[in-house]
Formats: sequence, C-alpha cells, structure tokens
Amino acid sequence: MSHLIGAPIAMTNLSAQTTVSKESWGITQEGKHVEIYTLTSPRLTVRLATHGARIVGIDAPDATGKRADVVLGYRELASYERDRSTYFGAIVGRYGNRIAKGRFTIDGETYQVPPNNQGHALHGGSTGFDRRVWAAREVPGGVEMTLVSPDGDMGFPGTLTAKLDYTLDGASLHMSYAVTTTKPTVVNLTNHAYFNLAGESSGSIEHHVLTLAASRYTPVDAALIPTGELQSVAGTPFDFREPTALGERIASSHPQMKLGHGYDHNFVVDGEGLRVAARVRDPESGRMLTVTTTEPGVQLYVANFLDGTLTGKTGVKYGRRAGFCLETQHYPDSPNQPAFPSTLLRPGATLRSMTVLTFGAD
Ligand code: GLA
Repeated sequence: MSHLIGAPIAMTNLSAQTTVSKESWGITQEGKHVEIYTLTSPRLTVRLATHGARIVGIDAPDATGKRADVVLGYRELASYERDRSTYFGAIVGRYGNRIAKGRFTIDGETYQVPPNNQGHALHGGSTGFDRRVWAAREVPGGVEMTLVSPDGDMGFPGTLTAKLDYTLDGASLHMSYAVTTTKPTVVNLTNHAYFNLAGESSGSIEHHVLTLAASRYTPVDAALIPTGELQSVAGTPFDFREPTALGERIASSHPQMKLGHGYDHNFVVDGEGLRVAARVRDPESGRMLTVTTTEPGVQLYVANFLDGTLTGKTGVKYGRRAGFCLETQHYPDSPNQPAFPSTLLRPGATLRSMTVLTFGAD
C-alpha cells in the first residue's frame, strides 16, 4: 500500500488572498505579444507566461521562510523560443508524450502527426502547444489561458478549444483544464515544469526524496514507446511507494533504466479521482512538493537529456539531472493501446482534468 493513499488533500479557499498582476514580456519572432502574469499569495509567487501557457517561476519558502525559485527556465522569451527540446514549464499538447509513429486511427480514419522524436510524435508534433501564444484573462485568484487549435493542426482532427485555469490558493497552484472539440480527436495535456526544490540552479536533484503512489508502471521500448504492459514496481528501481532518494537506484542495471537513460517512465497512479500522486522533499532545504491529480498516470522524468549546454535564468548551466518533472497525464501512446484509459474526445463532451501543486517545508 502506498504511503500517500489517504493523505489529506489541502483544499482551502485562500485564493481570495491572491493578487494578480500582468506585464508585457516581449514579442515572439512571429510578432505576437507575450505577457507574464504574476500570482502572489502569502506563501508563493508564481510567474506564468502566455507563450506555452508556461510556468516560468515559482518562489517557495524553505522551513526558515527563505525563498527560492524552484522552477528551471530562462530569463528571456527568446531563449524559450530557441529551445526545441526541454519544454521547460510549458503545457504540452495536443498529445503530451509519445504517439508511436505519430499515427492513430479514429472511427476507421487514420491520422498522421509529424514525427519529431526517433520516428515518433512527441508532445504534439513539431509545433506543439508549448510554442503557441495562448489568450489570457484574469480570473479570481489567477488567470485563464485559452488556445484554439484549428482542425488539422499538426495532423489532429477537429478544432480543439483548450482552457486552462491557473489559480493560486495559499500554498497550492491549481491547474484546471476544460477541453472541447468539433470532431472526434485524441487529447493529452500536461504541464512540463522541471523542479529543483533546492533552487533552480542548485545542481542535481538525485538527493531529493520521492514518494509515488504507484504500484505499476508502463515499461517502454528503446524509443520510449510503451510495450502495452502494466508492470508491478515491486522489487524494481521503480518502487517509490516508500520515500526513496531519486538517485539511490538510478545507476541500476535494470533493463528499463537503461532504456530510459534513468527515469523517463509513466507510472500508473493508484486509485481514482482527485488524489495525491507524488510527494518530493529536498532534505537540505526541507522544501516539499505534493502533486495531486485526477489523471491516471504521471511521467517521472529526471532531466536525463540536460547536458550543461543550456544556461538558466540566473546564469547557471543546467547539467544532467538538474531538475525533475512529474507530468500528470494519460499514458503515452494511448491512442494505439486499447487497454489504456482512453484519450478520445468526442464533440459535445468536455474533457476535465485537474492537477494541484502544493509547496510546503519542514
Ligand atoms: C518528456 C519525455 C522525455 C523528454 C522530455 C523533454 O518527459 O518523456 O523523453 O523528451 O519530455 O526533453
């Protein structure tokens, strides 16, 4: 039984204490204006950009009240535009993670998304939602971001309207999605923030301690496409049901660790409905992140592909394992895996999903 099951979900109504301000962040290469919204509560400061509906910073206190920005990213918009590989802080879509060969069939019709990762589609194809400028308006305690993706965008059928409310409620950032379509299509949206609870420029996260409410995970092939099995984590380096340092078993010779170059896997979150999926604690600062979600899965990715060539917002180069991602999601390649929870969305239905990031310290 996971450590996290039954843990209380902090749902208060502190969003009335949140202030929201907006400033211009510049213009994209295509000439689109980009804004940054700053959400401030007594506990957290969250900066969100309309480019990629992106989290560009979260200042969170440690046990002594000392604040640090715990999200990796850049100072400038142009750096985000240049970077086509990390998806720092962005919403990825229409289909977060991979679709095998970028191909899927709905009602007998086959669709093709441009393959942009080893012959497969990753994070919605070559120009995914992370590269779009979302419309935004202030709502109580936060900001509502909207993206209308036209019929045929990156090969996906149907005009898709994706709405995402970011609201700040004390120590919790709520992400609430509502998505509709004009034709049957597949959708899988997630946020791709990289966290380092010691501060974004503090180096490796291998000493961070993770607890994950997942008894199973989805093993992958060499291109990180799920094999279709749901495998038990018991006795493997994927068992985080008890708190374990991220680095403790990362050098394991388990074949899945080799294929992922470390952790880059989807975990099947135990239970259903809004529940705690993960908790991460940095033993040095005492900062903690709790991830609560309605999604059936979460991708644990520990920045295996960062290699010190990208310079972050405070001038420090991001090396391997400089951050971790917990991307709440439906399982990768679900459109081609009938046994996985469905990602099909039909006209008339509204896809609703919620993920909450709660920052604490002890
Ligand atoms: C996801 C994938 C990784 C990698 C990152 C972005 O987490 O699963 O393989 O592509 O996105 O670099």
